[in-house]
Amino acid sequence: MTGAREAGPPAAPDAQAIVASEVTYSGGLRLDLILNAQFPHLGAHDEMLFIVIHQASELWMKLMLHELAAADRHLAAGTVRPALKMLARIKRVQEQLTQSWNVLSTMTPVDFLAFRHALGASSGFESFQYREIEFRLGYKRGDFLDIYRRDPATHGRLKAALEAPSIYDRVLMLLAKAGHALPAEVVKRDWSKPYVPHPAVEEAWKAVYRRPEASWELYELAESLLDISDRFQHWRHAHATAVERVIGMKPGTGGSAGVPYLRRALDHRFFPELWSMRTAL
Ligand code: HEM
Repeated sequence: MTGAREAGPPAAPDAQAIVASEVTYSGGLRLDLILNAQFPHLGAHDEMLFIVIHQASELWMKLMLHELAAADRHLAAGTVRPALKMLARIKRVQEQLTQSWNVLSTMTPVDFLAFRHALGASSGFESFQYREIEFRLGYKRGDFLDIYRRDPATHGRLKAALEAPSIYDRVLMLLAKAGHALPAEVVKRDWSKPYVPHPAVEEAWKAVYRRPEASWELYELAESLLDISDRFQHWRHAHATAVERVIGMKPGTGGSAGVPYLRRALDHRFFPELWSMRTAL
């Protein structure tokens, strides 16, 4: 016995061993862990803001993934109404995430320069939860896995998300089950490959939107997904603007071109046929 602990999250308290009368606010929420996880490297005043905003965003992303996983289980089982409830919560979380840029925008370029060099090459680019959300929503880019090659647990987790059907794939399977003619290349494909928009999917959505009363749940699901896609763009746009306020057109710590890289992401849209069919209707 060396006494060395394996890296990884601390063990959850044993549910059997918890006695309700002994639960405290701090203990139940593990505030000892959360509130002791801020370590400003240089002690620059705004370093605390930078750390807290990232950590809070990661917590909200954790909740999004929790809701996405449950929504996925419901859609796989064909129980659409509970899935809609989870998607509604995801939208609210996205609004929280987008609001957080208002707090960040109180940091000026000089405030940031006081500690930027301490960040080294680290960047939000490496956020594995963000990448998992993109994968779960259907933006599959296997090349991102390479970033995590030295971290088998994270690599495995993202690989599983890459290879699983996305929430959009699940909804398309429901569309096919409801009698819309979708080809195998849409509903039985290699899920790890990027989704390629298909005219048959656009036709199916057009049919749903023309007669919503015939398949109300699919119609509601489609509008919910569109809300999520829309809010994702709001977050990306607000991130790019907040970043430009702080670093102008300098390259990012992660090695990208910075704001131009972030703006390029605005060209990507989740659930493409839900957008394109609006022109075709
Ligand atoms: C002063 C604050 C911030 C600056 C200057 C900044 C800057 C950047 C830059 C330049 C990139 C592009 C990659 C690179 O070269 O580094 C990036 C990516 C990213 N950042 Fe931020 N960021 C800030 C705050 C945040 C916060 C609070 C979050 C919340 C988690 C975040 C999440 C991300 C994510 C997820 C990406 C990857 C985006 C993608 O690949 O499409 N960033 N950031």
